[in-house]
Amino acid sequence: MKKVGVAILGLGVVGGGTYKILTEHREEYKRTHKIDLVVENVLELRKERALALGVEESKIADNIAVICSNPEVDIVIEVMGGVEPAKTFVLAALNAGKSVVTSNKELYCKYSHELEKTAIKNHCGLFYEASCVGGVPVIRALLDNLQGNKILSLLGIINGTTNYILTKMSHEGASYAEVLKEAQKLGYAEADPTADVEGFDATYKLSILSSLAFHTKIPYTKIYREGITGITVKDIQYGKQMGYAIKLLAIGKNGDNGIEVRVHPAFIPVEHPLASVNDSYNAVYITGDSVEDVMLYGRGAGALPTGSAIVGDVIYCATHSNYRYSTFENTKDAAPGTKFIENFESAYYIRVNASNRTGVLAKITSIFSRCGINVAKMVQEDGSDSAAVPVIFVTHKTKEHSVNKAVEELKAIPEIAKVAAVIRVVS
Ligand code: HSE
Repeated sequence: MKKVGVAILGLGVVGGGTYKILTEHREEYKRTHKIDLVVENVLELRKERALALGVEESKIADNIAVICSNPEVDIVIEVMGGVEPAKTFVLAALNAGKSVVTSNKELYCKYSHELEKTAIKNHCGLFYEASCVGGVPVIRALLDNLQGNKILSLLGIINGTTNYILTKMSHEGASYAEVLKEAQKLGYAEADPTADVEGFDATYKLSILSSLAFHTKIPYTKIYREGITGITVKDIQYGKQMGYAIKLLAIGKNGDNGIEVRVHPAFIPVEHPLASVNDSYNAVYITGDSVEDVMLYGRGAGALPTGSAIVGDVIYCATHSNYRYSTFENTKDAAPGTKFIENFESAYYIRVNASNRTGVLAKITSIFSRCGINVAKMVQEDGSDSAAVPVIFVTHKTKEHSVNKAVEELKAIPEIAKVAAVIRVVS
């Protein structure tokens, strides 16, 4: 029986879940894969945490050098998160000839070129299924199963925290602030929720997924990003009346004119499969030129779902000697000549609060007309003559820059108290 030694860097939520899966399924893996996966070391400064999980004291390391010099360790699992010290530790492990399995999306997104180069130089494996969408096997699907396709687009709900918040706001009518507080109490949202609610987490994941899908590095800095903090229950309710659900979408498109990558809140028709992905669930909807539409759905976070992806990688690594690397030259930037579309096209939901006076609508529509914007729907709430009443427009597909220009002009109309919301509509 082939024995494969594993070390886990960090025994937090995901590290603990991974340890549990590896130890509880050890006998099963011997039978099914003919390998004995043994946790040889854990790197954890809070010793009591490791002991509580049942790790033998002699296996608890307090520095990376112990693990790098342990000949019994073949695979290092990095589940620490953040760039440093994770990057230094992963590079040290690769340089010591250990293969690495990581769940660290920020590290992989920002430094995959450096990590992969080091892995190739040392003939090691580098695996990162758990970095995107937790337990949902989307990386391997893109790297292997869908390779025969030109991937035309991917649409994803790839952040569980924001999906939980938007679902609660939609279903219960609670405000963003109220739901965020509740999500923090339940452990869905971090004490500092910025990475999730401002879309950074989704941007890192989209960078990794779209690089694999489009066969060129998509630096996260090329991705348009907008978070969910400006979304109000009022707009969610108006959207619902119009047949839309609100989601934080990660969008990647590879068209004839270039690549489009963006993360922002969007209304999607309730009949779209992604509209029923609720709570903290995630899903990725991929369209290939041959396969057509594929949707992968499941838990995007959590100890055991993320542990599932990590252990899948560990088993793959332990049973394959020809490791998989990127299908493109993995550099810091996109391949020379790659064109990114910034002035993308979308339909838009625009809500203004306007005085209910004769001629205001004419002023608004003349701005739309000047900016080349074609209105598909309009709803105006009843209101007294002087009050600022909500007026909502949904446009046909139009260019982002045209909408930005129209919004600036709308703000200059004295009868418009506020351009209260601009939300893209994706179909
Ligand atoms: N914070 C992430 C989310 C999970 O809310 O989806 C880890 O990527």
